[in-house]
Amino acid sequence: MCKGSDTKNILEFRGISKYFPGVQALKDVSFTVGKGEILALLGENGAGKSTLMKILAGAYIKDEGEIYIDGQAADIRCPEDSERLGVAIIYQEFNLIPGLTVAENIFIRRQPKKKGIIDWKRMNQMAQEIIDEIDINIRPTDIVNTLTVAEQQMVEICKAVSLNSKILIMDEPTSALTESETQKLFHVVKKLNKKRVTMIFITHRMDEVFEICTNATILRDGQFIKSAPISQLTLDQIIEYIVGRSLTEIYPEKDTEVGDVYLEVKELTDGGIHVQPSSFVAHKGEILGFAGLVGAGRTELMRLIFGADKSMGGKILIDGKEARIRSERDAIRHGIGLVPEDRRRQGLVLALNVRENIIMANYERQKTLFYLDPQKEKKVCAEYIDKLLIKTPGQTQYAKFLSGGNQQKIAVGKWLNCFPDIIILDEPTRGIDINAKYEIYSIMIQLAREGKVIIFVSSELPELIGMCDRIIVMHEGKISGEVTGKEMNQKSIMYLATVEGGKANGKN
Ligand SMILES: Nc1ncnc2c1ncn2[C@@H]1O[C@H](COP(=O)(O)OP(=O)(O)OP(=O)(O)O)[C@@H](O)[C@H]1O
Ligand SMILES: [Mg+2]
Repeated sequence: MCKGSDTKNILEFRGISKYFPGVQALKDVSFTVGKGEILALLGENGAGKSTLMKILAGAYIKDEGEIYIDGQAADIRCPEDSERLGVAIIYQEFNLIPGLTVAENIFIRRQPKKKGIIDWKRMNQMAQEIIDEIDINIRPTDIVNTLTVAEQQMVEICKAVSLNSKILIMDEPTSALTESETQKLFHVVKKLNKKRVTMIFITHRMDEVFEICTNATILRDGQFIKSAPISQLTLDQIIEYIVGRSLTEIYPEKDTEVGDVYLEVKELTDGGIHVQPSSFVAHKGEILGFAGLVGAGRTELMRLIFGADKSMGGKILIDGKEARIRSERDAIRHGIGLVPEDRRRQGLVLALNVRENIIMANYERQKTLFYLDPQKEKKVCAEYIDKLLIKTPGQTQYAKFLSGGNQQKIAVGKWLNCFPDIIILDEPTRGIDINAKYEIYSIMIQLAREGKVIIFVSSELPELIGMCDRIIVMHEGKISGEVTGKEMNQKSIMYLATVEGGKANGKN
């Protein structure tokens, strides 16, 4: 094996292992990353991607193995070590200080000084130079908490540029971005890459891998599986390396018919803040999609139906009878469940364990029972761990120690366990690997077969088209149209979701 310096490779992992109580997250992982690559780091939920990157960034300490940067053995014990070696990482939860300006965040602890005091003018100038260099639309004096998620991500990138980082790691950077924000990010990534910055990019979206990456490395169950240039890999091969077997289909077959109207939403609105008066019906056994750009009001409409936000007009009928829903508890009582979009804030209690999270919502519903049966709880929890392929050392592991995708699976399991008649899934497959996606799709179809109403909000058009009986499209807080059958294609949905289509439909 190559010893010492191989300058074509900027980075080399040799025999990296990492143990957590009950899990070995990484097992003897070895591979190299070439200078100037945009590397897709791929693998199922819990494969060890984030753990490996946290080790490189000094957030975790490896138990075994060595890391070489530019041919030199790198002793990384804390984030500062890693920073000094030219590594920058952008986590999904940013490390910015919300109350400070863009420039202050970029130069935190490194502010330029004149006679011992911070030289504000110079600092803002330096920030502006970086902003111009990567060609983005923010100002050095903007306060970070007034920026969008995408803009905050750009501030993190500016910080990496200011540190002259050679290796930039991004852990699922696009999962909270709109399509156009993603394009903007890719534009910046390409710009930096031209300057020979090596990128490591974690994503579950295969279209992005082919769009932006030059190489791919795949991990499975904490082990290294394969590294190759993207040009030598097909989508099917990548999927096979990720899951360890070939997948014949991405969407399970839906073999049942749609029944009678069950849910009627009439002129529901929050007073026009995010949701204009909106009306639609949903049928028993139907998978009804909601498409639209991020910010179109889909999540807000779902929260009104679920009683999570207060409606300012309109009504909801369930099975022909008006349902008065003023709180989430009312909604649960009426048989409505919502898997929210933001699992960290709304879907899960990170300080509770897997079992507590899964049984939580159902416990609410069955409050009138005299006691809880721990054996039954264990059984129920085991069932969801099995069904959703949740990777955890046990039912009593804290949710906060699970990988991002596994947390999402628990949020889904928790609501499935309420056996709602109407289940609203808001971006349920975000950050979830391809195998678990299939499981979630299968569960949706099973629920439809049982005559439930499934409302499926997603920003990924292929999965809506692959799964839904009908798709409603929203634009700027209004329902701009709906498509079924042959019309369920990307072109007609995008037309309704964007300015022209939305306006054209809004008029009549
Ligand atoms: N701090 C921790 N304590 C205990 N276990 C952990 C910790 N961090 C990670 N793990 C475990 O290590 C394994 C690998 O997790 P990791 O977060 O690296 O996965 P991942 O590949 O990033 O997955 P995802 O795509 O879901 O984000 C998982 O089984 C996870 O539960
Ligand atoms: Mg991860």
